[in-house]
Amino acid sequence: MTNADFERIVDTSDEWIVSRTGIKERRIADEGIASSDLAVAACEKALEASGCSREEIDLLIVGTVTPDYRLPSCACVVQEKMGLPNAAAFDVVAACTGFINGLSIANSYIASGQAKKILVVGVEKLSSIANYKDRNTCVLFGDGAGAAVVAGDDTGRGVLSTFMRSDGNMRELLWIKAGGSMHAFSEEYAASGEDKVLMNGSEVFKVAVKEMGNAARHVMKDAGVDQSDISLVVPHQANIRIIEALARRLKVDLDKVYMNISKYGNTSAASVPIALDEAYREGRIKEGDHIVMVAFGGGLIWGSALVKW
Ligand code: ACO
Repeated sequence: MTNADFERIVDTSDEWIVSRTGIKERRIADEGIASSDLAVAACEKALEASGCSREEIDLLIVGTVTPDYRLPSCACVVQEKMGLPNAAAFDVVAACTGFINGLSIANSYIASGQAKKILVVGVEKLSSIANYKDRNTCVLFGDGAGAAVVAGDDTGRGVLSTFMRSDGNMRELLWIKAGGSMHAFSEEYAASGEDKVLMNGSEVFKVAVKEMGNAARHVMKDAGVDQSDISLVVPHQANIRIIEALARRLKVDLDKVYMNISKYGNTSAASVPIALDEAYREGRIKEGDHIVMVAFGGGLIWGSALVKW
């Protein structure tokens, strides 16, 4: 869906969207395609790239706020569709930091010996929760999925440090009011758009820049890695201005910050793994590189992971 498509449905312009967000187009899944279908496509590619068999996967973690159903988890549906006979499966509801939180959990399971090979997925069908009458939000979101296989070894490479934080006091800055146990779905809520994403964009913007910077600095300090040794920062793709402000805060050159927001918009939990995969396949990540992933989203919630590739 291009900016020109949005010009036809809300009062907006390509110029506004590009200059305020950096987004030119996003991918929208067809009707009848659920988050699990997008996740399966990403998981198949991750399994193929890892050389790992379905039987070896002993845990599947799916970061998503757009599961197929309210019950069961998206992870259980993905497990069935993928055919992972030996895996436990659960969702992580952490909005845009879903993949990073999933990676952090996977790292802990491997370190503690509770699992050996873990599929971590970030997936969203944000088009199912976006309000296409609200120009403040609908132009931002896209659908997508990204996945990684995480396994332990003794090379000294892998996840060196992770950091996760949240502040529920700010939950109403970015939320869906209706449809849960607090406010059951009703026709009134549907009519007011309160069953879709509601966001105070400028407030979220300020917290995002500050806390993504803090989270990235935290993992570097924790791992004892200087910022001059970081080869690539892979940030959540929410807004190009947030990414540029983050780079200034971290004193990292923009050419060391991966960006693909123009093609996909904000895909929430899927944005970091999609960016990581594209960066890797484009040759921007080499063995031994230090990579910082950092994200921020509804909760409010933020987190970071430092990986030696
Ligand atoms: N087209 C044209 N005008 C628009 C549009 C649009 N699509 N959207 C908003 N505007 C208008 C507003 O109505 C406002 O007009 P007014 O001054 O007449 O009232 C004006 O533009 C400025 O609005 P702001 O909200 O102040 O614009 P801002 O520069 O803050 O940009 C944006 C808005 C892009 C949403 C920005 O605040 C942002 O990116 N915030 C962070 C979003 C984010 O990171 N979310 C977290 C992840 S999402 C998740 O967790 C699922």
